[in-house]
Amino acid sequence: MSHNQKSPVLVTGGAGYIGSHAVLALKQAGYPVVVLDNLVYGHQDLVEKVLQVDFVQGDISDRALLTKVFADYGIQAVMHFAAYAYVGESVTNPAKYYRNNVAGTLTLLETMVEVGIKTIVFSSTCATYGNPEQLPIPETHPQNPINPYGMTKLMVEAILSDFDQAYDLRSVRFRYFNAAGADPAGRLGEDHSPETHLIPLVLLTALGRRENIAIFGTDYDTPDGTCIRDYIHVTDLAQAHVQGLEYLLTGGRTEVFNLGNGSGFSVREVIAAGETVSGRSIPVVESPRRPGDPAVLIGSATKAQKILSWQPQYPEIEVIMQHAWAWHQKRHSGA
Ligand code: UFG
Repeated sequence: MSHNQKSPVLVTGGAGYIGSHAVLALKQAGYPVVVLDNLVYGHQDLVEKVLQVDFVQGDISDRALLTKVFADYGIQAVMHFAAYAYVGESVTNPAKYYRNNVAGTLTLLETMVEVGIKTIVFSSTCATYGNPEQLPIPETHPQNPINPYGMTKLMVEAILSDFDQAYDLRSVRFRYFNAAGADPAGRLGEDHSPETHLIPLVLLTALGRRENIAIFGTDYDTPDGTCIRDYIHVTDLAQAHVQGLEYLLTGGRTEVFNLGNGSGFSVREVIAAGETVSGRSIPVVESPRRPGDPAVLIGSATKAQKILSWQPQYPEIEVIMQHAWAWHQKRHSGA
């Protein structure tokens, strides 16, 4: 019986990269979990075979479905990961992003209010800050997103503040820096299609599935000329979500927290770490800058450490990449 005493949690986007790792962390902490995912980018086999939790295929904008799922499973809290997250696509097709990430989320939140669910943990992003004026970036940094993706997340942050005021919907909003790595036990990993992120592309190159890795810009004002990012292990992110949920369930008020390691690695350093963990050489092609990339993004997560007692377990870039490498090897073995 004891596992049934914890609040049932709906995880939207639970078939995706960060959502699936959060489902594992929730299960491990003893929460009954239901995944809602429209499978546009998610992986159904993962939910059924690996996560082994209840799965509902559907959309966050389907009010009738949400009402039914909330009632059927006695949902008491939501972790909301479902979103489109390609920065480039958000620039060429902003309608898709505002429709799904903002309007879809609004439907989700309205339905929660309607049925009396008052607790939500939301995936926001460091992309809400735009170009940094201060490093490491604190939560109080001005938010001036430079692409529609970041704007959609900022809009939802604002909606959540207003919903707290008006309807007592309490939220924890996490602004992630660069999510990376894979479940240390090898059950889950990063599997985007198309893949645009640096670490998986580096490792797919090491595996020989790509000919080379393009370095987007070698003339930045950084020690080696390439962009610096704060890579945070996806399992550390997942753990923060469980702690954020427990903070709210024990009466914590609406808050926002950065999640990062507070230290950065350049593109060249990530590629070098990829060569170390794979034992293979990784051909690079020095390429022009990618539009919209700030030179350095590093976050201060001292607030999450203090208020949530969150402490990253896997801060080292080599460990993050070892876990990602193990997963990619398994994923592509025999393929
Ligand atoms: N990069 C390359 N070559 C590649 C891919 C990426 O050099 O083939 C570089 C990028 O220019 C960047 C760094 O590697 O400097 C990391 O790029 P990613 O695409 O892996 O990650 P981003 O920092 O662009 O994006 C992440 C999240 C987004 C979020 C953004 C906030 O994936 O969801 O941080 O800036 F919006």
